[in-house]
Amino acid sequence: MDKIVVEGGRRLRGEVTVSGAKNAALPILVSSLLTDGCNTYRNVPHLQDIESALRLLAELGARVEREGTLVRVDASGVDRPEAPYDLVRKMRASVLVLGPLLARLCRARVSLPGGCAIGARPINLHLTALEMLGARIELQHGYVEAECNRLKGAEIYFDTVTVTGTENILMAAALAEGTSVLRNAAREPEVVSLAETLNAMGADIRGAGTATITVNGVPRLHPVEAAIIPDRIEAGTFMAAAALTGGDILLRHCQPEHLGAVIDKLRMTGVAMEVSPEGIRVRGGERIRSVDIRTQPYPGFPTDMQAQFMVLMSVATGTSIISETIFENRFIHVSELRRIGADITVIGNTATVKGVSMLSGAPVMASDLRASASLVLAGLIAVGRTEVHRVYHLDRGYEALEEKFARLGAAIWREKV
Ligand code: EPU
Repeated sequence: MDKIVVEGGRRLRGEVTVSGAKNAALPILVSSLLTDGCNTYRNVPHLQDIESALRLLAELGARVEREGTLVRVDASGVDRPEAPYDLVRKMRASVLVLGPLLARLCRARVSLPGGCAIGARPINLHLTALEMLGARIELQHGYVEAECNRLKGAEIYFDTVTVTGTENILMAAALAEGTSVLRNAAREPEVVSLAETLNAMGADIRGAGTATITVNGVPRLHPVEAAIIPDRIEAGTFMAAAALTGGDILLRHCQPEHLGAVIDKLRMTGVAMEVSPEGIRVRGGERIRSVDIRTQPYPGFPTDMQAQFMVLMSVATGTSIISETIFENRFIHVSELRRIGADITVIGNTATVKGVSMLSGAPVMASDLRASASLVLAGLIAVGRTEVHRVYHLDRGYEALEEKFARLGAAIWREKV
């Protein structure tokens, strides 16, 4: 198992190119299942979760090829509509195959994902919506067993905004008979990007990016060529690094319009941001001001940036209140940040972060993807050496993070344990 070692205290300077977004790539790769032919995707990041998705597609019978960041998925031969436990337990987003498999093959058997470190994360809303489209669903032996005749369009209201739930149902409804209306749909850029890809396949989807999405089902979809959008959370993580280290970083290949809430909050902390055709230049100030955040579905402040922002608030002047409203257990990084010297108290879903003048490097344990990123960020400013263990969490969703930080001047490297 690898660990990442960071010697803190360097200002980060230079340019970094943001990779393709994991959470956009996953549903788009899976959407290949809706087509009979070879799809080509550009800018697909090298990440553990993407490899898991490609392995799952191959398991289902698709032909998968990768050349660098170009991936081809030919789903003509898909004939084994089963997502086994071993793959689903490694990556919960595997549940995204349910909708497309039902739409294309009228049956699916998908292992029921369990909870994960950040919360229980049920998939009841995916299943209820599929039932409304006409699927018959049973839970047996830890698997979702689903079958249908051709899915039929329906009006679906999501009780809670769910990103992969919206994506699953978009894919299912794209090939359903008749019109579906999804209300209280997720508005994340990754949902919009999936809808655009499906439309390029010949789907008729309107309203993606708003809370009401209308899908006029079509009988078939054709393969596409599509590019994966830049990863807004990776971009936000580098922004936080610039702010923390008083650095000066130009982020290339990122879409500032996807980062509104993060940019606004960072500006309030005293960070200077300049958006230009080249990218976003982020310059940290001498002092970091405390601000409060409350995670919300898009366009609110993303839960996937909460841990990184907490590190910034750990060394700010003043006290910050951080409320996590999306996941019930997404403060696991707090105890590790405390070990590095942060002053954080948690009551329920609210963390009170009192800024301290300095963090002090220590061995720490990553517990989930974004928590791992926050520990690396903390290491960048902590005095002395920080060792982040269980780096496999980081490898699920950040492409070459330590190499990118090293190119910006950080003293950071990976060691085999
Ligand atoms: N929820 C339910 N029932 C459902 C579905 C969701 O109660 O059927 C609840 C969840 O338990 C949670 C809330 O609704 O409390 C929102 O969860 P959502 O379904 O939106 O999360 P997700 O689709 O499983 C995606 C991202 C996450 C990101 C969240 C929130 C992917 C593959 N994953 O998860 O990304 O945190 O949306 O924005 O897109 C990450 O990249 O580190 C990550 C965890």
